[in-house]
Amino acid sequence: MTAVEAPSSAPDVLAHSRDLVRPALREAVERLHPWVAEMAAYSFGWCEVGGAPAAAPGGKGVRQALAVLGARAAGADGRAGVPAAVAVELVHAFSLLHDDIMDGDVTRRRRPAVWKAYGTGPAVLAGDALFALAVETLATAPQGAGAVRLLSSALADLVRGQADDLLFATRPCTGPERVTPGEYRAMAEGKTGALLGCAAALGAVLGGADEATAGALDRAGRHLGVAFQLVDDVLGIWGDPAVTGKPAGGDLRARKKTYPVLAALGSPAACGLAELLDTPGRAEEAAALIESAGGRTATLTEAGRHTAAARALLARTPLATGAAADLFRLLDFLADREL
Ligand code: IPE
Ligand code: MG
Ligand code: MG
Repeated sequence: MTAVEAPSSAPDVLAHSRDLVRPALREAVERLHPWVAEMAAYSFGWCEVGGAPAAAPGGKGVRQALAVLGARAAGADGRAGVPAAVAVELVHAFSLLHDDIMDGDVTRRRRPAVWKAYGTGPAVLAGDALFALAVETLATAPQGAGAVRLLSSALADLVRGQADDLLFATRPCTGPERVTPGEYRAMAEGKTGALLGCAAALGAVLGGADEATAGALDRAGRHLGVAFQLVDDVLGIWGDPAVTGKPAGGDLRARKKTYPVLAALGSPAACGLAELLDTPGRAEEAAALIESAGGRTATLTEAGRHTAAARALLARTPLATGAAADLFRLLDFLADREL
């Protein structure tokens, strides 16, 4: 293998990984039943409903980039991480298909969510198919058995996180049954951090890393995931729908116990917030009160703490120099995204 030229900025790192991974991802999706393959392609932004080619916005490809960088961090060529990158992108797409159904979100990346475009049953099926394809992709890669074990354990954590996310919505805002910041952290680490950590660790394993290095990348990715989720919570309340691709205030209407809500509820300045959150049609007032009670600032401070923890972990792990620099660039870029 000839070495692939090292990219120089975080958007370059992301674009480079997308270019590297796309052919294998497309080839994997084309192996699915044609109808299911179309739903998968629609979710990646490659086609319209009906299959006509499109270039709709896909995701940033953070997970595939972490897999490629994990392999490079272990001293291998980024291409060694491609099966891991394909698997984590497939799992991510699967989790989003099912998540939009669970959350009742009708829009994703400025387009109708797959369940809105194709129906709930077909979207569930497409998610299942993407999951099975991810397992197959990893099982047939070198180091396949260990890689599948890592993925299964990340998925178990993702399911735990999603379960708590759904259950928290039914918990009260105040009193002994309220959701604590510690419970939030565990939930966010599960629903978002587990797959980001797994992406970096899987890439490292396929690149020949030892267990300690893969473990450190996993933990750093989990911190990055919590930071990412905290920023996502802020964007979910105050983000520009034209940028986030989703309507503003959806999390508030769904009574999600996001960090800005929890932080504001803990402040005496948020008097009356619990009642506002329980009253339909008052999401805008709730958002203003959360902000004035410090919920937005506290969330961004907490995100900064998790980004710093990820940096510290990476700094004390022996990683190939160029890949480490790209991982730091990616961390900083994601911490600042769209704010
Ligand atoms: C999604 O969490 C986590 C998974 C898909 C496992 P959210 O529900 O908070 O994320 P968005 O805002 O819909 O992307
Ligand atoms: Mg969601
Ligand atoms: Mg969700």
